[in-house]
Amino acid sequence: MIVLALMVSASFGAVGCLLEAGSLSGSGGVGQEQKPPVPSKRVLIVYFSHSGNTREMANQIHGIVGGDLFEIVTVQPYPQEYKAVIAVAKRERDSQFRPKLTKRVESLDSYDLIFLGYPNWYGTLPMALMTFLEENDLSGKTIVPFCTHGGGGLGKGVEDIQRLAPRATLLEGLAVKGALVKTAKGDVENWLRKLGMVRP
Ligand SMILES: Cc1cc2nc3c(=O)[nH]c(=O)nc-3n(C[C@H](O)[C@H](O)[C@H](O)COP(=O)(O)O)c2cc1C
Repeated sequence: MIVLALMVSASFGAVGCLLEAGSLSGSGGVGQEQKPPVPSKRVLIVYFSHSGNTREMANQIHGIVGGDLFEIVTVQPYPQEYKAVIAVAKRERDSQFRPKLTKRVESLDSYDLIFLGYPNWYGTLPMALMTFLEENDLSGKTIVPFCTHGGGGLGKGVEDIQRLAPRATLLEGLAVKGALVKTAKGDVENWLRKLGMVRP
């Protein structure tokens, strides 16, 4: 716990640096002191979404923090019907299947801060996130988890992200109930402000 707390507090410092380095849009402007150009640190918002809730949350984060959006899409689409997707996802989880993804992030190296969003599936990450984390080396990056759920919160997702990206630094995540995501913008903003990612 102490180690985790230290990692988190160290990361807050890192985020402060990221923001000073101009990773958010809207810096400068008429009448403001001009700062010397600094190398920009880039934000990537990665998410998987089956029925749209996590996509909505990703868009809310994007509206506040900016950066680039990347949707994880599986080659084999999941059925839309609830009972059918439940059955497929359960089969995949039980066999620890890794679905193939349609595309990869271009120039992952240029991103420092990665939001990673998922719907809670069976208490943790959908298998597509497992594929993503195994295909991409996130060592040295700062990861901010977020999720939508039906009551289980972040579940074991954060633990699984850290297990699959052991050399990344994880910041405090946010879980929003899927049914409430459309009205969660205030909560999302408060969370990002706590992380030092919203300009005052
Ligand atoms: C296959 C499957 C498994 C799920 N398992 C859980 C679960 O274990 N705990 C939970 O709180 N919600 C669970 N849910 C509900 C989703 O996490 C929730 O509806 C989420 O907001 C869906 O996000 P999306 O619209 O981005 O796909 C599950 C949904 C599906 C389809």
